[in-house]
Amino acid sequence: MKKLPVSLLFSLLLYPTVGHLEEKPVDLSLGKTLFNQSCVKCHGTAKKGAPRLGASEDWMGRSRDVDVLVSNVINGSSHMPPKGGTRSDSSGKLKAVVSYMLSTVPKQETAATTAPPEKYKTLAEGKKLYNQLCYSCHDNGENGAPIVGYMPDWENRIKLGKEALVQSVIEGKGMMMPKGGGGLESRAKYASIVDYMVAAVQDKELANSPEMKAQVKRSKEISNGLRLYNQVCFSCHNTGKHGAPQLGNKKAWEARRKQDIDTLVKHAIDGHGMMGEKGGSAIKSVEGVKSMVMYMLSTVDD
Ligand code: HEC
Ligand code: HEC
Ligand code: HEC
Repeated sequence: MKKLPVSLLFSLLLYPTVGHLEEKPVDLSLGKTLFNQSCVKCHGTAKKGAPRLGASEDWMGRSRDVDVLVSNVINGSSHMPPKGGTRSDSSGKLKAVVSYMLSTVPKQETAATTAPPEKYKTLAEGKKLYNQLCYSCHDNGENGAPIVGYMPDWENRIKLGKEALVQSVIEGKGMMMPKGGGGLESRAKYASIVDYMVAAVQDKELANSPEMKAQVKRSKEISNGLRLYNQVCFSCHNTGKHGAPQLGNKKAWEARRKQDIDTLVKHAIDGHGMMGEKGGSAIKSVEGVKSMVMYMLSTVDD
């Protein structure tokens, strides 16, 4: 109890900039190492809306309180597995990673100065639902789904008007089942997703944001990979023939995906076990093979 006034004084003096003084300073270099091991696969590419390192716009509206963020990571969210997919049982380690992540976001962009404009709050709701219900096709163009953020896929559809697009979702269209396969009752919720999808190509700020650009780049790569995959790789990887790790089978990929993507790509190019060079395809470019591997990995995402 004797100590209380002192630490209270410190907190009062330092809280706005430093916070939690009682604890040891966090090890940012440990945080960086752990980040590159466990978090970069989503947080490096804005996958499913993961806020990226150093991108202040991605952190808009999120808490800057390390402890709040750590507890959110421990609990996980719709597209982040609990503990960010790590087995770490030390919240100290997660604190080091989160502190490292926050250290890359420019200081002046504090929560107070980046309160999101009203528009983004509405779009954020649509985006959240999109990331739960619709991304599996609209991120990669599966079955000809228009890719979110990619204008050529949306130009003609937008001309139908927003109401007609919402109606397509409710009734289903082509290869898209009614309600896009989602089980929501409220039409307004689907309308909010369509708002987000339309804004992703039409709203200049959102469409030109680095986050959207990164997402579209990744989507285009994966959709290209999907197309190439369906020419050659499917013959073994759809069924698991010859012991090939099967598409969408998390267990089959669990150990393999711990290798970094470049190693997987190298194995696909050089051949591996029962798989011949380049998986038997005539493809020449490393980027082409990489896009196929990216697509394959995207089917075993959490
Ligand atoms: C499978 C992808 C994935 C992995 C792996 C992942 N994250 Fe995330 N993370 C996300 C997504 C998606 C969000 C955004 C979730 C949202 O807005 O609801 C997010 C959000 C966050 C946030 C912000 C939380 C908030 O309350 O705003 C932090 C901090 C974070 N992640 C840290 C980590 C750390 C640390 C790791 C590694 C140990 C990690 N993440 C690994 C996908 C991932
Ligand atoms: C199983 C894959 C799949 C899922 C999941 C999916 N879609 Fe689609 N979506 C498609 C395909 C394929 C098309 C193109 C249909 C066509 O024009 O033939 C499409 C088209 C659309 C269109 C354009 C409709 C039009 O009239 O041109 C909208 C808007 C849309 N989807 C919204 C959504 C929303 C919102 C969700 C989530 C609730 C969703 N989709 C989930 C596959 C999917
Ligand atoms: C003739 C069947 C066959 C075809 C076609 C094929 N694969 Fe494979 N693939 C396999 C088998 C079998 C394995 C497992 C090899 C092992 O670990 O012994 C494998 C493993 C892999 C792995 C994991 C490598 C690792 O390090 O664990 C990747 C990545 C891969 N294939 C990508 C591809 C791509 C991309 C294509 C298309 C260009 C393709 N494969 C076509 C049979 C095939």
